[in-house]
Amino acid sequence: QKLDMELAAIEKGGYDHFMLKEIFEQPTTIADSLRGRLVLNESKIILSGIDIIQEKLLNARRIIIVACGTSWHAGLVAEYVIEELCRINVEVEYASEFRYRNPIITDEDVIIAISQSGETADTLVALERAKEQGATIFGIVNVVGSSIARISHAGCYTHAGPEIGVASTKAYTAQLAVLMLLALKVAKMKGTISEERFVELSQELNSVPEKVEWVLKNEVDNIKAIAYKYKDAHDVLYLGRGYNFPTALEGALKLKEISYIHAEGYPAAEMKHGPIALVDDTLPVVFVATKDVYHEKVISNMQEIKARKGKVIAVVSEGDEITHSIADDIMTVPVLDEVLAPILTVVPLQLLSYYIGVYRGLDVDKPRNLAKSVTVE
Ligand code: AGP
Repeated sequence: QKLDMELAAIEKGGYDHFMLKEIFEQPTTIADSLRGRLVLNESKIILSGIDIIQEKLLNARRIIIVACGTSWHAGLVAEYVIEELCRINVEVEYASEFRYRNPIITDEDVIIAISQSGETADTLVALERAKEQGATIFGIVNVVGSSIARISHAGCYTHAGPEIGVASTKAYTAQLAVLMLLALKVAKMKGTISEERFVELSQELNSVPEKVEWVLKNEVDNIKAIAYKYKDAHDVLYLGRGYNFPTALEGALKLKEISYIHAEGYPAAEMKHGPIALVDDTLPVVFVATKDVYHEKVISNMQEIKARKGKVIAVVSEGDEITHSIADDIMTVPVLDEVLAPILTVVPLQLLSYYIGVYRGLDVDKPRNLAKSVTVE
């Protein structure tokens, strides 16, 4: 018994839970997923999987992203990034819905499958169907040699290492890092990005590990205090716009999974179309509000919540003084280009969910009713 506990402690690297260890591994796992692929001094991206399907990609009628859960959120980020940088039409599909509809698939479709485990049944079956219909499958998978990796025509592994916590953290940010590399490489192939913008985004991407490190070094005590303040909430809303909208969805999923508190993510502007009726002085609203083109509008969305006595918790960029005068609680991240922001803004939300779960005395590594890999349909 004692030996088992000691072994477990060694496996957790001294952290109380695998989830916390994996959150803190992210500077390393993001760097590992970029290493050998982001070649700054030659201003190029090396992704051999993309070279294999280059013709298919250049002539693709559209890209369909197929995934589940947190991996689906990574896919939604990728839709915004690929459409912005590569000017290719992207559709993001829940694998379970995609496979039961009768979608129109042709050999001009490229499907990007995103899966940490590579064994998710909904995703696997969706891919088998699409492959039969002639689509090209590109897999972004964490587990080497997994089923989804094996049925893909080409792919690119994330290098997050084994993810033990049921709630995905380091695999998600590794997926985003690889998807950013993919978008930059395809944009350069298609000539839809200027050399200057390519270099700028490559350098920003290269700075992500150290910026995640900054959050883990400077914000943890602050986030712990915020988690303690809201640990007894019954409902939480997560709001974001643009690239930060998928982050709002992912933040809400993390809270649901880890603390069993009901939470949902929404595009910030959607509040006025109904959900704002939920707002009263018992409802915390988390805004993903880093500096970007939407920032002013997000500020006014915050003021709408405050005017109705809602509590505002905001993830903001370093140096953002405006939000400090409006929000009740602030989590700060270093400034980062808005296209890449989702890799960084999710980290405070992962920590917030983790500490709320811990304060509620829950098993954050093995939440009730959940499996690490959902191999049933
Ligand atoms: C995420 O925290 C959950 N564990 C779950 O939504 C997961 O992302 C989903 O089941 C997909 O798993 P996969 O990435 O292994 O395919």
